[in-house]
Amino acid sequence: MADSRIETLVILGAGGDLASRLLMPGLASLLASARGTEIRLVGVDREPMTDEAWRRLVARAFSGVESPLTERVIAASRYVRADVTDPASLREVLGRATGPTALYFALPPPVTVLACRALAQLTLPEGIVLAVEKPFGTDLDSARALNRLLQTLVPEEQVFRVDHFLGKSTVINLLGLRFANRIFEPLLSAQNVARIEITIEEELGLEGRAGYYDKAGALVDMIQSHLLLVLALATMEPPATVGSEDLRGSMAQLLRATHAWKHDGTASRRARYTAGTIGSRDLPAYATEPGVDPARATETFAEMTVGIGNWRWAGVPVVLRSGKAIGGPRQEVVYTFRDVPHLPEGFAGPSREAQLRIGIRPATMSLDLVTNGRDDPFDLECDRLETEFAPSELSAYGEVLAELLDGDPTLSVRGDIAEECWRIVAPVLAAWRDDAVPLETYPAGSRGPRPTP
Ligand code: BG6
Repeated sequence: MADSRIETLVILGAGGDLASRLLMPGLASLLASARGTEIRLVGVDREPMTDEAWRRLVARAFSGVESPLTERVIAASRYVRADVTDPASLREVLGRATGPTALYFALPPPVTVLACRALAQLTLPEGIVLAVEKPFGTDLDSARALNRLLQTLVPEEQVFRVDHFLGKSTVINLLGLRFANRIFEPLLSAQNVARIEITIEEELGLEGRAGYYDKAGALVDMIQSHLLLVLALATMEPPATVGSEDLRGSMAQLLRATHAWKHDGTASRRARYTAGTIGSRDLPAYATEPGVDPARATETFAEMTVGIGNWRWAGVPVVLRSGKAIGGPRQEVVYTFRDVPHLPEGFAGPSREAQLRIGIRPATMSLDLVTNGRDDPFDLECDRLETEFAPSELSAYGEVLAELLDGDPTLSVRGDIAEECWRIVAPVLAAWRDDAVPLETYPAGSRGPRPTP
């Protein structure tokens, strides 16, 4: 990637939801933190807007995290009206940037592709970094095509594929927990672990995103990207360093070994929510939401089982599960341990399997220990050791932006990793297209579809 710090951050699609809801608040949290440094912010969009109106928009997105640095960044930020699919407009945009520059495509994926094609007709400034948002393509072929297009523009180290899950402190925490403790790592293998479950559930429903979500669904929106990256960090081999090449090399190696549990994609479940209540909110059925085409049979809950074909994990099923409109949502990685090879005769129990649970939200960890029972010492019980992790100073977007602006691609999804993620889900997408797996339902606010008997 760029060998120097980014001085100008250009946001293409600056008037959009992503920029104001996630990107700019993330930037504000970074600027207000000890890691914040000067940055020139340039907003670009199709609508006419004065610099003053743009600065008010930035100030609104930054609100709640004021600091002398955020004030300076707002005051110096500029707005450029441009059609990002037009090479001449983009030339003008690039003319406004000074020093090492990052171009952030906060745009719908098809527009990102058009903007990249327009950039291909220009001579780009030395060291420019291109930050693209997930989804990277819509299937394996389109992901490959996008990667090839990006390669014609800049070297891979200057492409920053943003997946904000890699910026979550609790996800990064998997590395420290696994590789800086003696007690966990030797246990995490097929010899000791019976199964792994990675669950990311949310209370939120569609939230007006039908235009994007109805064509994506839970498998593509969450499992294909976020959950497979969490899987990589939860199961990969220890890297020699946490530098970008070693870390992403270990992740890529793990994902290359990962495949759908059944090659026909039927070790999977899909469901969508019907009307229901979450807390005090009434949610309409997904199929009746504005912009949803019920005939698409888009799922709001997806589950797929994968296997990892390597020495460490052969034969261990890993269940990846994600759903929207779930009551009491869980976000965690759970390793369930096998029983001990021989329980001395005369002991009874314990009644459940021991687990190591690493919470992604909330940031918690628990480890079950089997101990002698309180009433009858030979009647074994499971005790739970629990702890909470301190919240991170930066939001996930703030963390990702910190790395991007540092010119460090460690938290960027490497091109080959994005392609592997599409390859892994492809058999399930095909099985669902062929209706080989039924579309189930669950009421919004419930725990999801009924467990399989
Ligand atoms: C996004 C998905 O990438 O991640 C959303 O498109 C999802 O559907 C979101 O709600 C979850 O992220 P977070 O940070 O809110 O857990």
